[in-house]
Amino acid sequence: MVTTTRAYQPRLLPFTDFASVTPDTDLNQLNLNWKERDLPERIRTKHVHRLHPYLGKFVPQLVEIFLRKYKPQMVVDPFCGSGTTLVEATALGINSYGSDISEFNCLLSRVKTAEYDTDHLEREIRNILQRSEGENQLRLLERTALYVASSYLADWYAPEALQELLAYKRLIADYRYQDVLNIILSRAARSSRLTTHYDLDFPQRPQVEPYECYKHRRICKPTHNARQFLTRYSYDAVKRIREFASLRKPSHTQIVCGDSREITFPACDLVVTSPPYVGLIDYHEQHRYAYELLGLPQHTEAEIGSAARGNSQKAQKSYVDQIEEVFDNVKNSLTKGGHLVVVVHDRKTLYPEIAKRLGFKTETEIHRSVDRRTGRRSSDFYESVFVWVKIRTKGRR
Ligand SMILES: C[S@@+](CC[C@H](N)C(=O)[O-])C[C@H]1O[C@@H](n2cnc3c(N)ncnc32)[C@H](O)[C@@H]1O
Repeated sequence: MVTTTRAYQPRLLPFTDFASVTPDTDLNQLNLNWKERDLPERIRTKHVHRLHPYLGKFVPQLVEIFLRKYKPQMVVDPFCGSGTTLVEATALGINSYGSDISEFNCLLSRVKTAEYDTDHLEREIRNILQRSEGENQLRLLERTALYVASSYLADWYAPEALQELLAYKRLIADYRYQDVLNIILSRAARSSRLTTHYDLDFPQRPQVEPYECYKHRRICKPTHNARQFLTRYSYDAVKRIREFASLRKPSHTQIVCGDSREITFPACDLVVTSPPYVGLIDYHEQHRYAYELLGLPQHTEAEIGSAARGNSQKAQKSYVDQIEEVFDNVKNSLTKGGHLVVVVHDRKTLYPEIAKRLGFKTETEIHRSVDRRTGRRSSDFYESVFVWVKIRTKGRR
């Protein structure tokens, strides 16, 4: 029997004692409608979860609940994004495997979950920061070459900011922990674009003149430097990685960049994932600055549900087919009786049918309200959490 939990349960206080979850915990007895005061942003973005902004993350504590409830040997996330499932698995000593079509997302997931000699890492981060400041003389030729190669960089950065980012980038090859340095560089590049303060998520065009800032309620100027961001994010990265290093448990993590319709997943007893939704976000585009600066390959044509392909009936049909292909593929690696947890804002009620067609039994369905007061979208928003069980071994229908 499917149990559906309503989003509003006045009798129960929002559940925050995450460490108390055991296999006996009844998911339907948990009120997961957290408000900002129950689960503040600082806790949702604890340690490595905030190494770099990423639009479309799920709440780590939600993942923690399912990992504690099902205690898997191996958890898979075929849309691992910024690595939330993998980080939470690592915190609990659970082996994990993640895949994503975006090279940048895989880089970010790797940086979050890798093990470091943290003293050495800190020395490297301080050293490159110091050297890049010394190196930061105008290298006009190099900058011009990049301008020609990337009109994006030419349009979105003030010359001084781009020069500072390039000086840092040029030195990265000298270090052991290059992935971390690339993430610090990308985060600084995101903040030093010529944008308004209120539209860092979806900037439409470069902002070169002073502007009326809705966020700060005054006239603000677009930034012309990257140095302050490189410095701030360097120390922030050290702090966050050290914090996570002190609490992670021995486990193995693997991250593969590719199309999850085609990947051969390892045997697993739990899948926890939040798929892209139809016509909502362009996952490559949101980190465009990083692709341009780091020269990462892009696989946009294989991105499922991208906003660029829209929301039409045709786009929806193709979305459902592609999501089914991914879940059908991952189902091959899931043990019989294993659970697949899907967290999605299923506005068009597409997922119950997907479960049926793939031969999953829906064990629980939770609808929870999402408090978005901190984001730029402040309207009411509901998210579904589907817990499916694999009942058939073979066959899609
Ligand atoms: C909602 S996000 C996942 C966010 C993740 N749960 C987190 O907390 O960071 C969906 C992800 O699916 C990825 N994606 C889209 N199409 C894909 C495909 N064909 N194969 C693998 N990943 C894909 C996107 O790049 C995006 O990172």
